[in-house]
Amino acid sequence: MEVLMELKDITKVFVQRKQPQTVLMNLNMSIAKGQSVSIRGKSGCGKSTLLNIIAATQIAESGKMLFNGQDIQILSNKERAIYRSANIGYIPQNLYLLDDRSVFNNIALPLQYLKINKEETRNRVEVLANRLGIGTLLNKNVSLLSGGERQRVAICRAVIKKPLILLADEPTGSLDEENEAIILDVFQELQKEGITIIITTHDEAVSSRCDAMYKLIKGGLISVH
Ligand SMILES: Nc1ncnc2c1ncn2[C@@H]1O[C@H](COP(=O)(O)OP(=O)(O)OP(=O)(O)O)[C@@H](O)[C@H]1O
Ligand SMILES: [Mg+2]
Repeated sequence: MEVLMELKDITKVFVQRKQPQTVLMNLNMSIAKGQSVSIRGKSGCGKSTLLNIIAATQIAESGKMLFNGQDIQILSNKERAIYRSANIGYIPQNLYLLDDRSVFNNIALPLQYLKINKEETRNRVEVLANRLGIGTLLNKNVSLLSGGERQRVAICRAVIKKPLILLADEPTGSLDEENEAIILDVFQELQKEGITIIITTHDEAVSSRCDAMYKLIKGGLISVH
């Protein structure tokens, strides 16, 4: 197995009103290329924080976050932005869709940042949206969609640039079983295409479909089966 990412002794502390709170403590994790990984744990245990560190939107107080052997934490803001843009697709816990824009515009956004031309953008968005069953919604305003449809828009936006790693923060949290199954199937297909997937979830059924399963407890990960 080829190691893609390695977290070494990651410690993350938040300070609020002068009160330090250690959320991650000497956390270690190794992620193989093409693997699917689930992270479970109580609300507030640090799952989203861990994804933010992998995405390099947050920096740990100590430890290393190695990507292909390179420590991402010591890079400049600009270099980290390049790492993120080139490698990471992120489905945030609260989606962060642009509610006043169309489905198309939301999904196309990462391609606009990459300066992909209009025709290719149109093609790629249409193909992907059709695959996820939201092809007929492209001109609709995102604010008018159902929860499951919004989730699928967020997935499309995260994977449209074909990232190496997909980070999905409780991607099925608010969905019914049918929509959950659709999304898990999409993840499985993406994994077959070679994408490495890291999912946080409260749902054992979601977790059990992953190659590696962890629980985040007291700032560290334990392997579960
Ligand atoms: N920017 C921040 N500033 C201060 N405290 C923070 C910040 N972000 C997170 N925290 C705190 O760190 C802890 C972990 O938060 P995090 O969002 O990572 O938990 P989580 O496991 O994702 O929870 P949930 O399952 O509810 O999404 C929480 O106690 C939270 O209040
Ligand atoms: Mg969270």
